[in-house]
Amino acid sequence: MVEFYDKGNYVSKYADSHLDFSIRRCDALVSYINKKQKTVKTMLDLACGTGTFLNLMQEKLSINKCVGLDFSKKMLEYAMQNIKNDNVEFIYGDMTDFEFDEKFDLITCNYNAINELSPISKWEKVFSLAYKHLNDNGMFSFDFNTIYKFSNGVRTFYASNEEYDEVAKMTPNKDNSIEYLTITYEKTPDGQYIKEERKATEYVYNLCEIKKLLKKVGFKNIKIGDKNFDKCNRKKQNRLFVICEK
Ligand SMILES: C[S@@+](CC[C@H](N)C(=O)[O-])C[C@H]1O[C@@H](n2cnc3c(N)ncnc32)[C@H](O)[C@@H]1O
Repeated sequence: MVEFYDKGNYVSKYADSHLDFSIRRCDALVSYINKKQKTVKTMLDLACGTGTFLNLMQEKLSINKCVGLDFSKKMLEYAMQNIKNDNVEFIYGDMTDFEFDEKFDLITCNYNAINELSPISKWEKVFSLAYKHLNDNGMFSFDFNTIYKFSNGVRTFYASNEEYDEVAKMTPNKDNSIEYLTITYEKTPDGQYIKEERKATEYVYNLCEIKKLLKKVGFKNIKIGDKNFDKCNRKKQNRLFVICEK
């Protein structure tokens, strides 16, 4: 799956197209943290990608130390070049197998990065590593794509702007995995097109199974809902947001 991010010129396109999500996710999480009167002095963002979300969180909450972890070299390269913030650092690593000496007040994992993991025991690994690396009463928050999102058969998306034309096709398999095929025609300054093809697989799991695993590793006060963690019709949501505490 790492090839999906490391291939061609994808990362800067990703950064542009995902900025809005990071801003909205940061606003919602910060207002939840403020409402609960929680203090966040240290933060770890698993599968941090371009680092945008981590940087926004640092600026909003004046966090002393933020660590971003990812295993895409291109994502980390982009993050290190674009985020100039002494309180934010980036580390190459696998979210299913990492070890830090320190603990954190907040651990996050955003934009369905967790859906890249299969089988579900890898989700459990992430949950238990997050638990282990949290201070007491620290918070773990992530979002995931739901089975509902992929229950509507094959879907295609089209995007076009000055830099590229792109077609993406999503094909659900019977085993709750989804194949993504993305074909991009990048426009060069001399009017030519460069074709780039990328494939990826995502895995979706049942909400009850996910909640059971969070409880099993020890998390309490588990809230699963809309982007503000509020109650919603969870059976009809494409994406659900989770927050829980150690
Ligand atoms: C959809 S992007 C999300 C990036 C970022 N969290 C955001 O909100 O924009 C998924 C990211 O997860 C990373 N990733 C996937 N599996 C990983 C793993 N096992 N360990 C570390 N990073 C992983 C990929 O390299 C990629 O940067």
